Amino acid sequence: MNTFKPEQLEQWDKDYVWHPFTQMREHRKEKPLIIERGEGSYLFDVEGKKYLDGISSLWVTVHGHGKEEINRAIKEQLEQLAHSTLLGQANIPSILLAKNLAAITPSGLDYVFYSESGSTAVEIALKIAYQYWQQQGNEKNKSKRKFVSLVNAYHGDTIGSVSVGGIDLFHKIFSHLLFETINAPAPHCYRCPWDLSKENCSMQCVDEMETILVRRRREIAGVIVEPLVMGAAGMLVMPEGYLSKLRELCTKNNVLLIADEVAVGFGRTGKMFASEHENVKPDLMCLAKGITGGYLPLAATMATGEIYDAFLGEIEECKTFYHGHTYTGNPLGCAAALASLELFEKENLIEALEEKISFLTHGLERFKELKHVGDVRQKGMMVGIELVENKESKEPFPVEANIPHRVILEARKNGLIIRPLDNVIVLMPVLSMSLSEMKDVLDITCAAIKKVTEG
Ligand SMILES: Cc1ncc(COP(=O)(O)O)c(C=O)c1O
Repeated sequence: MNTFKPEQLEQWDKDYVWHPFTQMREHRKEKPLIIERGEGSYLFDVEGKKYLDGISSLWVTVHGHGKEEINRAIKEQLEQLAHSTLLGQANIPSILLAKNLAAITPSGLDYVFYSESGSTAVEIALKIAYQYWQQQGNEKNKSKRKFVSLVNAYHGDTIGSVSVGGIDLFHKIFSHLLFETINAPAPHCYRCPWDLSKENCSMQCVDEMETILVRRRREIAGVIVEPLVMGAAGMLVMPEGYLSKLRELCTKNNVLLIADEVAVGFGRTGKMFASEHENVKPDLMCLAKGITGGYLPLAATMATGEIYDAFLGEIEECKTFYHGHTYTGNPLGCAAALASLELFEKENLIEALEEKISFLTHGLERFKELKHVGDVRQKGMMVGIELVENKESKEPFPVEANIPHRVILEARKNGLIIRPLDNVIVLMPVLSMSLSEMKDVLDITCAAIKKVTEG
């Protein structure tokens, strides 16, 4: 139980904590939101005020906060073992979870390499892909050292994952530290570079990708994408067929397909994994965020048998994957993930999502009528509402007007926690949210956008 006064905690937060992706000068001017506990779809601050968790605590919460089954699994594991290394030895939950992940991910992804965050899962996928071509036996393949990534993509904040990212604001300052990548245009349908619309879309972006892959296949190790939804880019939803076409192109050009399902995995898009929507089997797949239902930091990089086999050899051949983190395969995280997967089955969560997703689609209709909403994007339980100053010209609001931040503060006043991405208001309801809670999320967000943008 917390015994400190809210004012004391606020002061210490300002005095000692450096918050991620946060301008601390602004943060220190505002009253910080300090969360004390969670229950179901709600979070409670230190003053006892209740908020709906409209972003699933940064896209991780699946079954709600304080879920008894997950709490119990963590406590039971804690009684047995908090941690032991996976370097050259094993622990029980990591074995059971790996078996489970291999069973539920697209077929062929049979091997699991654990880490702790989405960024590390991506980092590991890149290093595996790179090393794979170096020790595949075929001399010609050794020149396959580059990665193709999409403009505006986001894959995390470590140097490798930043290198394959494409959001200038996050990456430009580090440009001299990053390795060189090949950028392909993103499928950005609202601001299509070829001025195509849904009706006449010929997926020019895929043609550009094909040109790159055909021309440079000898130097390309892999393509990395966020299947179906480019989350941090502003919830950009890929046109139907993009992912399967990309799979086809990668196979044809002997290039690995890395699916970064960190944000879209574990039910977010309405199926367990986004790749399933187009029956795509990636060569490597990155998982994190929802893997533990949002309880503990854990990540997994899944690889096919073909990739795994390329790392087998005699000790002196040095084909080992020389990578591993201290907390790799942490038993507590794996126990939480196992309990979360059990709940998916027990509560038929994926089936239950269908009704919630249509409710969301329906509820989002009225946002399109708002004077300053340029575009509403949705895939499953992921929503992006793009605010614009001028709907006709799609001109954004000036940065200094700080509109998105004002919208989230207004929503917070009314009991909803949300977070913007640039000019896009993001809604990521907890997957277990009830329809009436989702209605509240929509009502509060709509009113906040109206109040801030229309006065
Ligand atoms: C698609 C994607 N990949 C990777 C990451 C990085 O994950 P983490 O913040 O756990 O390092 C994120 C985080 O938002 C993400 O959305």
